[in-house]
Amino acid sequence: MKKILELISEEMQKAFEEAGYSKELGKVTVSNRPDLCEYQCNGAMAGAKQYKKAPIMIANEVVEKLADSDVFESVEAVMPGFLNLKVKPTFLKSFLQGMREDAKFGVEEPEHKKTIIVDYGGPNVAKPLHVGHLRSAVIGESVKRICRFMGHNVIGDIHLGDWGLQMGLIITELKERQPDLVYFDENYTGEYPTEAPFTIGELEEIYPTASGKSKEDPVYKEKAMEATFKLQSGVRGYRAIWDHIIAVSVTDLKKNYANLNVDFDLWKGESDVHDIIPEMVDYMKKEGYAYISEGALVVDVKEETDTKEIPPCMILKSDGASLYNTTDLATIMERMNIYAPEKMIYLTDKRQDLYFEQVFRCARKTKLVKPETELVHIGFGTVNGKDGKPFKTREGGVMRLERLISEINDEMYQKMISGREIAQEEAKQTADMIGLAAIKYGDLSNQASKDYIFDVDKFTSFEGDTGPYILYTIVRIKSILNKFKDQGGDLNSVSLQEVTNASEKALVMEMAKFNTMMENAFEEVAPHKVCAYIYDLANAFNKFYHETRILAEEDETKKSGYIALLVLCRDILEACIDVLGFNAPERM
Ligand code: ARG
Repeated sequence: MKKILELISEEMQKAFEEAGYSKELGKVTVSNRPDLCEYQCNGAMAGAKQYKKAPIMIANEVVEKLADSDVFESVEAVMPGFLNLKVKPTFLKSFLQGMREDAKFGVEEPEHKKTIIVDYGGPNVAKPLHVGHLRSAVIGESVKRICRFMGHNVIGDIHLGDWGLQMGLIITELKERQPDLVYFDENYTGEYPTEAPFTIGELEEIYPTASGKSKEDPVYKEKAMEATFKLQSGVRGYRAIWDHIIAVSVTDLKKNYANLNVDFDLWKGESDVHDIIPEMVDYMKKEGYAYISEGALVVDVKEETDTKEIPPCMILKSDGASLYNTTDLATIMERMNIYAPEKMIYLTDKRQDLYFEQVFRCARKTKLVKPETELVHIGFGTVNGKDGKPFKTREGGVMRLERLISEINDEMYQKMISGREIAQEEAKQTADMIGLAAIKYGDLSNQASKDYIFDVDKFTSFEGDTGPYILYTIVRIKSILNKFKDQGGDLNSVSLQEVTNASEKALVMEMAKFNTMMENAFEEVAPHKVCAYIYDLANAFNKFYHETRILAEEDETKKSGYIALLVLCRDILEACIDVLGFNAPERM
């Protein structure tokens, strides 16, 4: 389906052409004076020079050609030559009818379905998820869903940090504590136990302990590096322990991400490309991309137009060990081989901006990707507390994600039960749904690259630009529709009508922006645009609701039109929150 502005512009262009002017002049934009008109066209101003004519004369001639337009209710030429436009209710009705009949409300299937990999989440195994992991998960999930909504073939990959020194640290600490474990017996040739020798709770304590020790004790650190080396070179017992670490961690991660309504298609990690690193390194050397500099193997990635220093991309350290970017480059190579994606989108903290610039340049220069492969890094800002510093617990510690979620959910639960009768179980379920919306919307409504303040009071409020307000609006619509059904109405037999009043028209015009907005959010990888849209849409709906007697409307045709509008509005809002990664309850 075409976008509403395209249709309106086409009508205007036709008029310019008929009046003897260049079609290009008929470009229409949304009015920047909504008090005067809905849309505007400044083409007559632009054409004055070319046609050596006063703009108002051109504008008047165009107005004449639009006298019986199917699109415009009014076209006004105003000094010095602007065209102020209002659209016809019949035009809006047919546009909305098109949306209603379309599974995706006017978003067309792409001409070419792209394969897109979204690399997000990126937790390191054995480290508990904390507030710093929130944004990658929440924004990434939404980006994935937006791409999918647009009709592309999208693969979400968690890209676990499962291969570096942290693994060696854990193994070292385990060995200190339980040296007799069969995994450390070099002569052992039997099967290893299927049960892990630790729980997730122990694992989460082991890692920080080990990390702390290695910072103080160089001998310990040496051991950890050796353990990492042994693991990476495939020592059986080390691999077996590593398998346990991954299994225990992944089970826990799955649970945590599920609480955020986040799920991944691929649970791959840095370790998955270990075996193809030598092949990649050989290739880079053979083709002359990589060279030895101060013992390390590097690829230059600076470009002539750089205004800042872009250091070379290090492929192997002087001791031959691989690095974070080695695994990222090998992952790119593997993805190209298996999935041949046209686009890869990475979500991390913006402190990795330079890092990804280097990796992307290196991947292009060494032709791991095709020239047309899009590589996109979305670097997001920090989640801060009201003091402007990274968000902490009340006691000043690192805020675990689990705790953050449960604090918000408890807050919502208190709101749910205060001053009314509601079954505990329902209150709990609803509170969790609204809590998730509060967290996700609170995050997603900010432009990703900006830091934001995690303001519990604001995020959980039912008023203002918040998740709960959006859910509240949806639930309000659902409850009207339910009443309509209770009164014997049939949602399948209602039909859209021409708008008759201002707030209704404003609502319809907001709804009509849907496909434009979604395409834009996709192209700019910007979930905050979806948030901004549903906030405007919810406001437009609530204004309409307050000014209109919907169920009490006596004119049945009119009422049917209102209900049809509500159904579509609900469906659009729900499609939007679905791409944001949360859902609305039936009541609240
Ligand atoms: N594990 C990494 C970290 O904690 C994030 C991974 C992001 N994805 C990637 N392909 N590098 O910083």
